[in-house]
Order: sequence, then structure tokens, then C-alpha cells
Amino acid sequence: MTLQAIQYSEGNLAIIDQLQLPHVEKYIPIQTSEEGWHAIKEMRVRGAPAIAIVAALALASELSTLMDCNKLSPSADDTRTFIIEKLHFLVSSRPTAVNLSDAAGKLQTIVEESVKFPQSTGRSVAFAFIKAAEAMLEKDVEDNKKIGKYGAMWISENTLSNNSRARVLTHCNTGSLATSGFGTALGVIRALASTDSLLHAYCTETRPYNQGSRLTAFELVHDRIPATLITDSMAGALLARADIRVNAIVVGADRVAANGDTANKIGTYGLAVLAKHHGVKFLVAAPLTTIDLATKSGDEITIEERPASEVTMVRGICEHGGTSEDVRMATVSIAAKGINVWNPAFDVTPWTLIDGIITERGVMEKGSDGLFHLDKLFKD
Ligand code: MRU
Repeated sequence: MTLQAIQYSEGNLAIIDQLQLPHVEKYIPIQTSEEGWHAIKEMRVRGAPAIAIVAALALASELSTLMDCNKLSPSADDTRTFIIEKLHFLVSSRPTAVNLSDAAGKLQTIVEESVKFPQSTGRSVAFAFIKAAEAMLEKDVEDNKKIGKYGAMWISENTLSNNSRARVLTHCNTGSLATSGFGTALGVIRALASTDSLLHAYCTETRPYNQGSRLTAFELVHDRIPATLITDSMAGALLARADIRVNAIVVGADRVAANGDTANKIGTYGLAVLAKHHGVKFLVAAPLTTIDLATKSGDEITIEERPASEVTMVRGICEHGGTSEDVRMATVSIAAKGINVWNPAFDVTPWTLIDGIITERGVMEKGSDGLFHLDKLFKD
């Protein structure tokens, strides 16, 4: 049984509260776009695909409730305006991951189309939106499974000799908790493990928010995948070890620009530089919804900056030997008071450092001209 970050059934959405993981597994209901916006902003749900889907389903749930209470406008035009305003609001929650604005754009198009149907009503427009949002949830899991399969095949073919198994390093959390299920980069690790082609996974702690130690480690332990946690600063030492040859580093993405420049969790760029130095393959795993052809290069990507408190404080449980029923969370200060803080949530890895981009369509490598041609992925 894989973890489910998002539970949804017929207008009822609940998410696992990732702020409490790995200590407490608690689902919280999300019934409105307002609640969805806060859950995304406060990182109760995070990961590029997951935030897009939660945003879409939060609004779907709100529309379902409005219909159930007979509070939805009977006018198709009014409902369209309502939905579009809510979509703009949801997109304002976090700026870097393109999946959110991609989903909003696609849903807006569906709503605009549905208004054009003769005899369209508020209900018919809302139903069109809900159906499309539900389909996004299904498709994300299917795409992730393909990403996992293609990525695992590429690593086996390009980095392994006969009967050997891979050591793979990953960063941040890109698993079931960051998507509708299975995951992207962590999906590749899952796929390698499922065919007994994985010797060992390494996950970075991922300061300052610790998505690696809290979430990826939690998923790896849950799935009983052989894995070791390291702090971010240990990656160089790991790659330098002659007795442990890491075959590949696989990371996710929040936005891949048309030239292949990739925005992902802060620390990704450093790992890519290390990979180049040590001759380790560096792969980005992401669905097509993360590829943004309208953004020409990484220079155009807005990098979210988050509160200083995420760097100067750490939240966790008090190790007082209590039971799971009396888990006590605490926030502790770990920095000198008064110090300035810079807290970018993401960095940009230049395309030159990337060996392949794994999508649901396969693994794209650079062409004979040495460049990525990501536009080809969108042609049938
Ligand atoms: O700030 P976060 O936790 O939302 O950042 C998540 C990442 O950077 C992931 O690597 C990315 O969203 C891909 S998740 C499949």
C-alpha cells in the first residue's frame, strides 16, 4: 500500500498534513479554495504536481458544496467568472512550480469551452470543471508510473553493467507525498527497487525545510527500500568515495524552461555540479506539466523566497519517550538572534549539467547539436 497524500471522493478532499509528518499521520479536510490556498502556502501540501492537484480539487469540492446547498449561480457566465477568479487566487499561493498555473490554464480553457455549449448552466459549467479536476488526479499517477519505468530503464542501460544494481541519490521529496501517487524522482527509485535493480538509495536532508529527512525518508522506510539519509553537506563526500559508486542522481522539478534549465528545490544545483565533477549521471524526472516552453531559460523563472524563520528555527517532536497519542511538537531556535537570512526555496540547474529529462514520454537526452529539444515532447 503506497502512501496517499491526497484523498478525494465525490467532492470530498482531504490531505495528509505534511507539517506533522513523519510523526503524526493526520488527514485534514479541504473544502474550499481558501482552505486549499492556505494548505499550499503553509506547506501542508507541497511538491509541484501535488499543489496543482490540491488546488484544482479544493475548488472542485467548493463547487460541489455550493451545488449541494443550491448556492451556485444558475448562470453559466457567473459561474465561469467565479471559477476563474478562484483559479487566479489559487495560483497566487506559490510562484515557482509551473504545474499550478498549467493546471489553472487548462481548467480555465475547459470552463470557457463549457460556457459555449447551448443551454449551458451554472451547474453544467461546474460539472465540467469538477470532471476535469478529477481527471488530473488520475492522470498524474499514470504519468508517474511511466516516468518511473523509463527512468529505471535508462539508469540500468546507461550506468549498470551485467547483473549490477544501482545506487541512486535523490534530493527533497518527489514521492507519493509530492504527487497524486508513486512520485517522479522517487518513482524512479521505486521502479528500480520493484525490479530488484536498486542496491541503495540515498536521500538528502534538504535544509531548511527537511523534506528529505521528514518525507522522503518516511516514504523509503514505509516502502522498505534500502536507504540512507545524509545531510546536504555530505553529498560531496559520498560521491568522492571509491568504495561506494553512486550511479545516478535523480531529482524532480518545479519548472523546466524550454532550454532545459531546471528550477528545483534549493541545493539541486550544487548536486548537479558535484555530479559533473564526479562523472555521475544527473537526471531530472518530471511530468510534461512541469515543462514550460513559454519560459525560455532559467533566468526568467521566479524563485520563491520563504520566511527567515524556516532557516532560524526547526520544528519537530520532543523526544520524551511518550506514545504516539501524546506526541508533542515543538519549535526550537537554532540561529543567532539578529542575523540576516536569505531563504530561496529553489535554485536553477543549468541545462548543461543535466544528462536526461525523464517524462511520461521517455527520457530526453540532448540532440546531436548538444541541446535539449523539449518542444518535441509536445508533438504527437
Ligand atoms: O518547496 P517544495 O517542497 O514544494 O519543493 C518541492 C520540490 O522542489 C520537488 O522536487 C518538486 O516540486 C518536484 S515534486 C514531484
